[in-house]
Amino acid sequence: MTEKKLTPQEEISSQELIEARREAGQLGGGQHRIEKQHEKGKLTARERIQVLLDPDSFEEIDPFIKHNCHDFGMDQVDFPGDGFVTGHGKIGGRKVFVFSQDFTVLGGSLSETNAKKITKIMDLAIKTGHPIIGLNDSGGARIQEGVASLGGYAEIFLRNTLASGVIPQISAILGPCAGGAVYSPAITDFVFMVEKNSYMYVTGPEVTKTVTGEVVTHDSLGGAAIHSEQSGVAHFSAPSEVNCLEQIKTLLSFLPDNNVDNPPFVATKDPADRLCPQLNTIIPEDPEKPYDMKVVIEDIFDDHQFFEVHKNFARNIIVGFARLNGRSVGIIANQPKVLAGTLDIDSSVKAARFVQFCDCFNIPIITFEDVPGFLPGTHQEHQGIIRNGAKLLYAYCEATVPKLTVITRKAYGGAYDVMSSKHIRGDFNYAWPTAEIAVMGPRGAVEIIFRDQIASADDPEQERENLIDEYRKKFANPLVAAEKGYLDDIIEPAQTRRRLSQALELIEKKRDSNPAKKHGNPPL
Ligand code: HXC
Repeated sequence: MTEKKLTPQEEISSQELIEARREAGQLGGGQHRIEKQHEKGKLTARERIQVLLDPDSFEEIDPFIKHNCHDFGMDQVDFPGDGFVTGHGKIGGRKVFVFSQDFTVLGGSLSETNAKKITKIMDLAIKTGHPIIGLNDSGGARIQEGVASLGGYAEIFLRNTLASGVIPQISAILGPCAGGAVYSPAITDFVFMVEKNSYMYVTGPEVTKTVTGEVVTHDSLGGAAIHSEQSGVAHFSAPSEVNCLEQIKTLLSFLPDNNVDNPPFVATKDPADRLCPQLNTIIPEDPEKPYDMKVVIEDIFDDHQFFEVHKNFARNIIVGFARLNGRSVGIIANQPKVLAGTLDIDSSVKAARFVQFCDCFNIPIITFEDVPGFLPGTHQEHQGIIRNGAKLLYAYCEATVPKLTVITRKAYGGAYDVMSSKHIRGDFNYAWPTAEIAVMGPRGAVEIIFRDQIASADDPEQERENLIDEYRKKFANPLVAAEKGYLDDIIEPAQTRRRLSQALELIEKKRDSNPAKKHGNPPL
């Protein structure tokens, strides 16, 4: 299997041998396998690193590593570096660690030794406080090695867990990622996939067919569309590898290097006091009519830029990054256009993980709220909306980063409490005049508390409408909450950017903490 027969050491100088080994490592599995990789529309491990990192910034670590397996003919197999390319470089001038699995070498399979290459840079990344990016393209555990390879995975999973909340961890899936190998990306903060060429699953199509009888393709079982739209495993789906790597750079521009650093400040010419007049008329007259919360977000933040995370998953809630007067912020917003903006299982879990991420990495959270409540129904109840909705509540309660909230319209029931309310340490809570804050919508409320009165009225329909009107005047506005101090102010929508900028500047150095503990026990 050896591609390049090296001259025996005694016949060449050690310098020549070093260079020959280095050169052989550069070629991975050899030219014909590189061509096969290109034919599949995939870049090689080294080409990916070149696209990802600033030019000439990559410094390789462990290019000479050799595997230590002697079974199944492996003593005849010699690829310097053992198939993974690891090291550090820069993105936008900031240091990052990177590993890139080389599918041209034994299908990018994980061995005891190349696992050690990964854990070496993971340890360095944790100790030095720099993000780590994994480019995954692997047939999984190296079959010839058995348990030694499985141990290698476990060593990686352990570091993923220890690094969680200390440094940002980003995974790109650029080929196969199967079996238990999926759990390393799954522990990391963000997972990127590429349409058509990448897939993730615990058991592949063959085993699925044998066990369940289902006939599925790699793509329909675990392709980018499935994971970015249905399962939520992937936060991003890219049309090409290059686009994927570019998106990783953009994501990184919003993040700090580690949990004791602040995110980078990016100066803007967009004035902090810019008015947003279109927001004064964005809320429809009819409270049952939807509008697009993304228009609100894009109007308010610097240069109208919003980098959305989990764009196609649980679209009834929006999460992503933007900047406000140069500062990185995490945005969570109900989307009235999808499922009326209700909170369901998927949207709760999506937002909870995002809140947790922002809190780990000192990224202030700005919440835009228009939520009629949790999604009713047996499906949601039986699948555990209680347990899953509690995750979002827990995440918001636990978060100590600056928290700003704007209620644009509905804030009903438990969802009012959950979405960064004053009571769970919201720092500045604003409402637009169109806000309706109540235990439930006026129609539902009237049906319950005035049931007898409506039934005995001469004209029940008219009576119902009169009572709804009365209830709306009393509760479906922000005044009652503002009178109690649950809102800090009722603001003109056009002023939202200005008021949020002011508030953020005031509280950016906020200090708050939770009681000392080993760790909490959040609902899982
Ligand atoms: C050793 C492997 C390998 C593996 C592929 N290769 N997977 N070598 N260990 N796991 C080698 C092949 O022998 C071949 O070598 C080269 O990589 C390319 O593989 P092909 O099959 O020719 O490529 P392709 O047709 O694109 O198919 C890719 C593939 C397939 C779908 C990934 O190779 C495959 O099914 N591999 C096995 C996947 C698997 O079951 N892995 C174990 C999963 S369980 P040559 O010399 O011909 O180039 C697991 C447990 C992890 O990983 C648990 C963690 C806790």
